[in-house]
Amino acid sequence: MDFETLLKRMEERAARLVVIGLGYVGLPVAASFARVGFDVTGLDVNAEKTAIINRGDCPIEGKEPGLAELVAEVVAAGRLRATGDYAVCREADVVLIAVETPIDSIHQPRYSALRAALRSLEPHLKPGALVIIESTIAPGTMERLVRPILEAGGKRTSGRDFYLVHCPERVMPGMLLRNLAQMSRVVGGDTPEAARLAQAFYRHIVEADLDLADCVTAELVKTGENAYRDVQIAFANELALICEGVGADVWRVRELVNKSPGRNVLYPGAGVGGHCIPKDPWLLAYGASEMVQARLIPAARAVNDFMPLHMADLTVEALEEASLEIEGARVAVLGYAYLENSDDTRNSPSEILVNRLAELGATTCVHDPWVREYQGDLAEVVSGCDALVVMVAHDEYRDLDLEYLRGLVAHPVLVDGRNVFRPERVSAAGWIYRGVGRGRPGSRAGE
Ligand SMILES: NC(=O)c1ccc[n+]([C@@H]2O[C@H](COP(=O)([O-])OP(=O)(O)OC[C@H]3O[C@@H](n4cnc5c(N)ncnc54)[C@H](O)[C@@H]3O)[C@@H](O)[C@H]2O)c1
Repeated sequence: MDFETLLKRMEERAARLVVIGLGYVGLPVAASFARVGFDVTGLDVNAEKTAIINRGDCPIEGKEPGLAELVAEVVAAGRLRATGDYAVCREADVVLIAVETPIDSIHQPRYSALRAALRSLEPHLKPGALVIIESTIAPGTMERLVRPILEAGGKRTSGRDFYLVHCPERVMPGMLLRNLAQMSRVVGGDTPEAARLAQAFYRHIVEADLDLADCVTAELVKTGENAYRDVQIAFANELALICEGVGADVWRVRELVNKSPGRNVLYPGAGVGGHCIPKDPWLLAYGASEMVQARLIPAARAVNDFMPLHMADLTVEALEEASLEIEGARVAVLGYAYLENSDDTRNSPSEILVNRLAELGATTCVHDPWVREYQGDLAEVVSGCDALVVMVAHDEYRDLDLEYLRGLVAHPVLVDGRNVFRPERVSAAGWIYRGVGRGRPGSRAGE
């Protein structure tokens, strides 16, 4: 198919789309294109997921406004279906890949899912089709890994026999559909024609800017924006640790710092999790690691990785104030997802905390209203515990009745990693309190 024919098929919403990888990114994208009239097939190696979707149900839990309803609607209308069979790609005018791209233990990209998806797609790729990589990748990956697999040793050429684009996704769990429609995107084309095709395609579902660029720029923008956020969070966390050290309150300090023009200190907290922020900075650093040694990015990662361990330190300290030792203590951890009101537990800071507490000899019980494994009754989970540690600001925790909970626990010790409670409220309810960035008067360094 030539450029004009594909463009026309897109404009008329007649282009057939296959979305490979039906996760937090792929499913909302597939459903959004189906909503505006495209014929969409979702492809995933997880057979349980494809079965759920084909029943019209949504495999993503947590608060995800509109997604379950949309999936039900487009599946019932016959515009979205799911499969595990790559042969469907033979009919696809557009193939969009949104598989996971994690890092390994030495912070290097683990592209096994991306490689497998590309290798499975390659034999079925329709001449003239547009292939879009939405997964987040290190700078240079389109050139070094994606294009060579699809060109298959000279079997076809990008820009002549197919079109290739990197259009990284910017969504966040909790607002997937809204982000998808309202956030601008960088459309990085392997050739200018490829970028123009993808721009015309996304225009059907994206209301914001669709900025044209080349592939490496798109790779840099996506990994760069998440690395930037990680560094900013690390600054807030380091400031919080310093405030604790000198007996000051980081929440008041950041409020006043942010009165200074151009300053915007973010929230400190109990750790940074999720699929993206903990690994995208490493993808950025990896891109040119042979030429440039990144210093700031690893430092920021180290600060943020330390925060769940710091939560364990605060727990030890708070228990000591109650004349209790961590060894043998029973600690209730509230929240296991990485984000409030989400079911996503990837790179969960709570997991690190739980492991650390176990090393210190404590026993833990976990509650999370959104994570199936931990959805028990909160009152039962906290009953008889020696400390409560709040790791996630789920809505449910904001309304907790501290007076009532005090009657359930063995010892009223509360460690707040997300500034869910005002310290005065906690103390007034008779609890011993510690919070990230809340130094105690008298704890000044050097005194
Ligand atoms: N989660 C987010 O909020 C978010 C935001 C922006 C960008 N991203 C990026 O988008 C990409 C996808 O992230 P996600 O959160 O949707 O991941 P996910 O793990 O939720 O979904 C990936 C899906 O791909 C499937 N898959 C893996 N290998 C496959 C293969 N060979 N063939 C077919 N399906 C396969 C998996 O079964 C899974 O369902 C990642 O690169 C991520 O960094 C994610």
